[in-house]
Amino acid sequence: MVTGNPFDYQRPLVSGVSLIDRGFELDVLQRAAADRVAIRLASPRRFGKTSLLRAHLELMREAGHRTCYVDLDRVGTVADVADRLVDGLRQLPVDPQRRIERRLSRLGVSVGTGGLTIQVAPRGPGRALGADEARSVVRDLLALPGELGADGGLTVVAMDEFQDLLTADDRLDGVFRSVIQHQVGVAYVFAGSSASLMRELFSDRERPFYGQARPLELPPLPEDETFVYVRDRLPRHPQREAAAAAVVQFAAGHPQRTMLLAHHLYDGLEDPAADETIAAAVLDVALAEMEDVFVAMWANLDRGERAAVVALADGFSPASRRVAEEHGTARSTMQRVVERLEADGQLVLRDDGRLRLLDPLFTEWLRRR
Ligand SMILES: Nc1ncnc2c1ncn2[C@@H]1O[C@H](COP(=O)(O)OP(=O)(O)O)[C@@H](O)[C@H]1O
Ligand SMILES: [Mg+2]
Repeated sequence: MVTGNPFDYQRPLVSGVSLIDRGFELDVLQRAAADRVAIRLASPRRFGKTSLLRAHLELMREAGHRTCYVDLDRVGTVADVADRLVDGLRQLPVDPQRRIERRLSRLGVSVGTGGLTIQVAPRGPGRALGADEARSVVRDLLALPGELGADGGLTVVAMDEFQDLLTADDRLDGVFRSVIQHQVGVAYVFAGSSASLMRELFSDRERPFYGQARPLELPPLPEDETFVYVRDRLPRHPQREAAAAAVVQFAAGHPQRTMLLAHHLYDGLEDPAADETIAAAVLDVALAEMEDVFVAMWANLDRGERAAVVALADGFSPASRRVAEEHGTARSTMQRVVERLEADGQLVLRDDGRLRLLDPLFTEWLRRR
């Protein structure tokens, strides 16, 4: 077994790696599954949705239920959605291949290495699915978990980055809803990173999923538990305790940033000569690693957004008189910028009623500009 750095910050956590906290959320998910209640899980990117979904599915599997994970991240077409459904449903422990392949072959569709293809002429070459064909396939595949429920068992289906469905086709949620609404014995979890799109899908009266899933949010990680988790996984070193406390506090509960800093701290503490400057050095390493990303993020912000994030980084309210005057804009303009940022949910977070930047590293980068 390779025992390397225990802090993985680049992939969703895999089975066997324990999560920090999230006991409450796992509990909510399990109860909801038992009651066949659908859940929608929304949080900014890198807050641990996929890690949580995986942990949930694993617990459900251990309890003897069927599970499957459908990744809709960045699907661009309805055919992509059909492909991802095939990938997900194949995890079901019900002679999955044959059952799925048989269903598809009825529609003239076969699963190849390059995705789904449809046979147009007998024995002719397959071609990629058109949107209407793909929609029929999606409909057909979605019915599968419902059919399994006939044996009285429970199937848990997690759909990750569910809002990306709308990129493929902004009416596809109607297709999903119409197939899954009458299913018994299936518990769905819909996770998504785009707060505004998730709201549009589930809170807009005009949309098929309106009111169809109970909301669950992922808050920042609690400091105490995070500190213990990080400290206990660091190499033994006189600086371990103090440095762990410093990076955990700096990361302010951001799950991925916590793990990123902990990762570099682990490397730093492998040097017995590391001294009390180690936490600051780790921060420099992390900022250097993120430099390109932050430059690109900055370039994508408009004038008002830049003024707002700089104000937040410096600890001011973006819609305050002081900030508005400094940038020569009206407070109402800044207020609208703030509302837009909040609706988008990727840059800011409301914590105890106070708006703050979500990413502690981006905050630090802004302060140092
Ligand atoms: N509960 C947690 N405990 C420890 N690390 C976490 C936790 N949740 C997320 N992370 C860290 O954040 C990173 C991103 O998590 P991920 O599940 O991919 O988030 P999302 O799906 O919301 O984008 C992971 O690689 C991991 O380092
Ligand atoms: Mg994810």
